[in-house]
Amino acid sequence: MKKISFKLNGETRFLHVEPNETLLDVLRDRMGVKSPKCGCDNGDCGACTVMLDGKTVRSCLIFAIEVDGHEISTLENISKNGLSPLQKAFLEKNVFQCGYCAPGMILSATELITNNPHPSEHEIKEALAGNLCRCTGYTPVIEAILELTKKD
Ligand code: FES
Ligand code: FES
Repeated sequence: MKKISFKLNGETRFLHVEPNETLLDVLRDRMGVKSPKCGCDNGDCGACTVMLDGKTVRSCLIFAIEVDGHEISTLENISKNGLSPLQKAFLEKNVFQCGYCAPGMILSATELITNNPHPSEHEIKEALAGNLCRCTGYTPVIEAILELTKKD
């Protein structure tokens, strides 16, 4: 076991991890952070998305030991002062069905509009290409982002 420390949603946390423990398992099973989900455990679905130093990553592909000294942000961080405008837009349009993909979609879309406040439909599709959804067909998600980010 190795002792590591990292910032989780703005708070410095310390814990001992095995070299083969994934960040996803540590967040969910040992730190009570439930927004990242296990969909494929293989880097394919995006359900386990978190932010590492401000960039989206697949937490099933990262060992917890690798985030020593870094900063992790999850959907819980985005929502801690209430829903973001993006989340409100998704809620108003009722874009999700089962919601399993929602945390990953929201983080990927948040990253997109932070870096590109008025994305095109093509740019939205590219940004969400790594987030699979078995329910929605993606159209409502894309429409909600387009409406939220359209130029006045
Ligand atoms: S669970 Fe990590 S990408 Fe699917
Ligand atoms: S809403 Fe069910 S997987 Fe996306």
